[in-house]
Amino acid sequence: MSGFSYFRDKFYEKTGLDLDCYKEGQMQRRIKQFMQRYKAESYAHFWNLLEKNVEIMNSFKSYLTINTSSFFRDPQIYSALQEKIIPAIVKQFKKIEIWSAACSTGEEPYSLAMMLTEMGLAAKSRIEATDLDYEAIKAAKTAIYHEKQLEPVPQEYRHKYFCRKGEHQYELCPEIKRMVIFKRANLLKTMERKDYHLLLCRNLFIYLKPQVQERLLSSFMKNLLQGGFFVIGSAEYISSPAKFGLEKVEHAIYRRVK
Ligand SMILES: C[S@@+](CC[C@H](N)C(=O)[O-])C[C@H]1O[C@@H](n2cnc3c(N)ncnc32)[C@H](O)[C@@H]1O
Repeated sequence: MSGFSYFRDKFYEKTGLDLDCYKEGQMQRRIKQFMQRYKAESYAHFWNLLEKNVEIMNSFKSYLTINTSSFFRDPQIYSALQEKIIPAIVKQFKKIEIWSAACSTGEEPYSLAMMLTEMGLAAKSRIEATDLDYEAIKAAKTAIYHEKQLEPVPQEYRHKYFCRKGEHQYELCPEIKRMVIFKRANLLKTMERKDYHLLLCRNLFIYLKPQVQERLLSSFMKNLLQGGFFVIGSAEYISSPAKFGLEKVEHAIYRRVK
């Protein structure tokens, strides 16, 4: 065995992350770029380097998991959640259990927490948030953001929910932090079984192979109550929602009908 398959197997044994689940061209391009930084000439040479150096291994793992996120990303989705989806959930279930899967550094679950607080629903809400990347989860728990990251946050929320922490940094207030429970979890391994009313997995599917997207979607459906809602990224789509018991209700928002 040589080349990429050798590297992929070694990496899986060591980290539990299956590189085969991700779109191949995109994944290999990123790995090659990283290898160039360290002048690694082959996958075998690169593997030797990672095995010997924990720091390079950690920085490679963080580099692989693209952590781009922002507060209130795709505002039209948050408007639909606030105006239609959340009121519908609360009307039917009297409470709202949320899972923000692949939450990166916390902007998504915290945006939801601020929104629910503004809607007077904090006491009825429970938000769990998970990501593969330890560093991202660590940053999410700390909840300190650069002022640039706060730009999409509505002005009145910024004043209410953040306080200055150093020259260009802001920290989220404890009231909002407390609403989100963060955990590290690999979505491509076995999932805990739970019942959620609202499940978000945004901007991860685009990196996954179509058959892996389908597998993941089936696992998600086991965790979403009938009548609950599933949200994806605005540039993503589900080609046959009915196959998963879903019905499209808004752009990037689906309801579990079966
Ligand atoms: C582009 S970010 C999306 C963040 C957020 N959902 C959003 O839309 O703003 C993708 C996230 O997926 C996470 N990720 C990648 N593979 C994963 C896996 N197998 N299990 C859980 N999270 C994963 C990455 O660590 C990264 O934080």
